[in-house]
Amino acid sequence: MTARPPKRIDPSGVSDLPDRLQEIIRRRNTVLGPGYQFSETIPVEFVSGFGAHLVDREGNDYLDAFNNVQGVGHSHRHVADAVSRQIASINTDTRYPQEALVVYAERLLATFPAELSKLSLPCTGSEANDLAVRVARFHTGGEGIIVTRWAFHGRTREVASFSPMLGAGSPLGPNVRLITAPDPRLCASEQSLENYMREQVRTAINDLNRHGYRLAALIADSAFTSDGIFTHPVGFMQAMVDEVHAAGGLHIADEVQSGFAQLGDSMWGFSRHGVVPDIVTMGKAIGNGFPISGVAFRPEVSDEFGQKVSYFNTLGGRSLSVAAASAVLDVFEQENVRGRVVVNGATLLAGLDTLTRNSPYVSEIRGSGLYLGIEIVKNRETIEPDPIRCENIIKDLRDRRVLISRTGPAGNVLKVRPPVAFTAADVSRLLETFAAVAKLLL
Ligand SMILES: Cc1ncc(COP(=O)(O)O)c(C=O)c1O
Repeated sequence: MTARPPKRIDPSGVSDLPDRLQEIIRRRNTVLGPGYQFSETIPVEFVSGFGAHLVDREGNDYLDAFNNVQGVGHSHRHVADAVSRQIASINTDTRYPQEALVVYAERLLATFPAELSKLSLPCTGSEANDLAVRVARFHTGGEGIIVTRWAFHGRTREVASFSPMLGAGSPLGPNVRLITAPDPRLCASEQSLENYMREQVRTAINDLNRHGYRLAALIADSAFTSDGIFTHPVGFMQAMVDEVHAAGGLHIADEVQSGFAQLGDSMWGFSRHGVVPDIVTMGKAIGNGFPISGVAFRPEVSDEFGQKVSYFNTLGGRSLSVAAASAVLDVFEQENVRGRVVVNGATLLAGLDTLTRNSPYVSEIRGSGLYLGIEIVKNRETIEPDPIRCENIIKDLRDRRVLISRTGPAGNVLKVRPPVAFTAADVSRLLETFAAVAKLLL
C-alpha cells in the first residue's frame, strides 16, 4: 500500500475560492518549503476560534471535530492569559532553576503510574519519539525497532525511518520491522488476538536478530490511530510487552494522539490496556497548541543516559511552554475534562452508530472517548475500502461547516477526533449534520 498523494492545491482549479484565498495559495506555493499540504478539503481561512469552533473571515462558524491539538479549546482564555502573563515577565530555559518547571513535572507525573517518575520536555511529538528511541538504544545496546504497519511517529530523519505511513518516498530503516495492527476481525477470539499480536512481535524479534539487530524498542500508538483506530478489545498488549522485555527491549507508548483524555476513560491510552510502559511520549494537546512535548521515563531506563549523555533543548521546557502546559492541567482539573469526554464521547458514538447501522457502506464504528473511526467500504461482506465515498462525506460535511478527516492505510476510515473541549451542544450539531449527509451512505 502506498501513501495517499499529498493534498496540494492548484488555486486555478478551485474556482469557488475567493480571489484573496487564491492569491494566498499561489504565493504560498511559491515561497513555502517542500511538502506542505492543506488539510483534507478546500482550504478555509480561519481568523479566530473558541471551544471546538473555528470562525472564517466572513464570520461563518465551523464545528471542529478534527483538531485534538487545541484540546481544551481554541484560544482558551485561561491558557491565553497564562502565556501572556509569562511572556511579559520571564522566559528562561531548563538551565535555570525555575520552580514552575518542577511543579509542572510533579503535576504531570502524578497522572502516570508511579513507575514513570522522570520527565523530559522537548518541543514536538517527533522530538519526543526521537529522544525516547535514543534512550532506548542507549539503555538496551540494541538498534531494532518494531512498529505497526501504518504507524506514524513523526518526521525527524530517525523517526521517519520507523514511520511507514509516510510512504514509499520515505525509506524505513533496515533495523525496523512492521507488525499488523490489532484488528480483531483478523482473529477468531480475544485470546487469539493476544496470541496473534504476541506471535507477530516474536517473529519480528527473530527476524531482527537474524539480521544482526538486537531489539531496542516496540513503539506503539496506544490507539493505533494511523492504522485505522483500534481501541477494542483491550488487554492484549501485556503479551506483546512480555515478548519485548524477554528480548531485552523496551516498550515505548506514543501518546501523542491517545493521551490527555482523548480516549475518555483514562488520561493515557496505555492504561486502558493495563500495561505500564518503559517510556511514554506526549505532544499535541500537552500545550493546547503551544510547542511543547513530553517524555516520561522509568528512571532505570533513563538515568544512565542522563549521566553519560546529558540532555538539553533550547526551546523545550522554557518558562513560556511550561506556563501553557500548566494552564492546560489547570483546565483539566477545573472543567472535569475527563468526565465530559466520557459522556459526550458515548453520546456521539451512540448517535453515529444509529445513523450508520443500516448502511451497506459502513462496516464498523470503532474508537473510544472522542476518538472515533467509521470504516467506509464498498461492500460490508468483502469490506473492500471505499476511500472516494469517504472523501465525499468529508467534503459534504465541510460544506455544512463541520470538519472531520480520515485515516487508515486505504484512507477509508472517517476520523472524528474533536478537541476534548467538545460540548453536548457540539455533539448534537455534529449528529444533526451527519444525518444530513447520511444519504451518501444509503
Ligand atoms: C502518533 C503520533 N506521534 C508523533 C507525532 C509527531 O508529532 P509532531 O508533529 O508534533 O512532531 C504525531 C503527529 O501527528 C502523531 O500522530
